Amino acid sequence: MKKIFGGTETKVVQYVESVFQPEDACLKETRERAELKGLPIIQVGKMDGLHLETLTRAIGAKKAVEIGTLGGYSGICITRGLGPEGKLYTFEVDQTHADTARESFKKAGILDQIEIHIGPALDQLHKINKNAPFDLVFIDADKVNYPQYLKWAADHLKIGGVVLADNTLAWGMIADSSFGSIEDERAVKALREFNLVAAQGGRFRSTLLPTGEGLTLAIKIR
Ligand code: SAH
Ligand code: DHB
Ligand code: MG
Repeated sequence: MKKIFGGTETKVVQYVESVFQPEDACLKETRERAELKGLPIIQVGKMDGLHLETLTRAIGAKKAVEIGTLGGYSGICITRGLGPEGKLYTFEVDQTHADTARESFKKAGILDQIEIHIGPALDQLHKINKNAPFDLVFIDADKVNYPQYLKWAADHLKIGGVVLADNTLAWGMIADSSFGSIEDERAVKALREFNLVAAQGGRFRSTLLPTGEGLTLAIKIR
């Protein structure tokens, strides 16, 4: 499944990107830097980056958490949405990814607004519990742990705070009944559990935005 907005119509994508201009020179450089350093090319799509910025801005978030930093592309989008008074706590297991992100945050002029925590997120998240409650949690790391990240978010968001989670259509596999590998099966089952708890677990009012990748949006209600 390609990282595109609203379908597979190239003309439509070109139209949307030419009008809304999701990627400025700084984000383009961030994307290219990650590619040069050999990072996987799995950052959010251009329009999804703009969704992150505008949704962050819409909810007036000032304190956000990101799980899965990669090269900093989505982190820059979220931090722009937070505005100059905002703070982003971002979590990344891979040292090279984190170093690359730090360079891009510095180039973007927002390094002082961002704390990068390195290590498996489930071992690291407790370090920011003291800064709760948060306004926004963006989940975009290892899919098998999405349910646990959601549990952490439910306990550390303010009421009215928002979870955004990428890839919640599992590259089109979310409704499949057989899988090409055990890894795919584990990821899909975890993403299904994540969506089910977000939708029916009682603590969130939720929807799944049909972006290229599927972006679950869950608002904490209790
Ligand atoms: N949000 C990024 C893309 C993240 S890709 C963007 O759009 O720019 C997923 C990232 O999660 C990768 O960098 C990967 O190294 C990281 N990751 C995988 N498992 C992790 C874990 N257990 N804890 C923290 N980060 C993890
Ligand atoms: C892939 C894409 C993602 O957005 C992600 O978070 C992890 C993996 C992928 O295409 O493999
Ligand atoms: Mg993703």
